[in-house]
Amino acid sequence: MIRNARREDLAAVLEIAADAGLDAALEDLEYSVSAPSRMLLVFQEADGAVSAYAELSGADGEAELIDIACRGMYKRCGKAEALLGEAGRRLAARSGGPQIALEVREDNAPAIALYEKTGFIRAGRRRRYYPDGTDALVMIWTGGTAG
Ligand SMILES: CC(C)(COP(=O)(O)OP(=O)(O)OC[C@H]1O[C@@H](n2cnc3c(N)ncnc32)[C@H](O)[C@@H]1OP(=O)(O)O)[C@@H](O)C(=O)NCCC(=O)NCCS
Repeated sequence: MIRNARREDLAAVLEIAADAGLDAALEDLEYSVSAPSRMLLVFQEADGAVSAYAELSGADGEAELIDIACRGMYKRCGKAEALLGEAGRRLAARSGGPQIALEVREDNAPAIALYEKTGFIRAGRRRRYYPDGTDALVMIWTGGTAG
């Protein structure tokens, strides 16, 4: 089941982020739980465990995907795809022409495959965007989701 994250989910979210090599901060996640301009969705398993999350900013029509990650043992089960689908549906319900933009490392093949499967298209490149000199691909979703 996908639902809005609560304060008590944040330890699990931080753990998933750390395992995924993402640089998530508790203060930022706390803000995403409470601010209307943010969306922090978690995938909760039947046993209550949080297996994946997605964090978006500007969750009103034009949004940006901040992070998405899935716990190792739950990967390739459709969690991230379902989270992006839910985020897209929520944005579409609030705005006729929703858009989600993101930046992704050009060497992150799993994430790029996920975004392409869920209807994101490549819209540009930011050269040497990351501290190690890797380029970022800019990708945009404007409504057609497979999620
Ligand atoms: C990218 C990530 C979020 C995908 O999560 P996931 O729940 O395993 O993804 P899903 O099961 O929903 O996959 C949906 C589709 O994405 C693509 N995909 C996902 N992982 C893939 C992989 N390792 N290799 C190739 N394609 C992949 C596939 O098209 C997949 O559909 P399929 O399984 O029917 O072939 C996950 O690998 C992860 O947590 N990575 C580390 C964090 C990260 O890089 N986040 C993105 C930048 S913020």
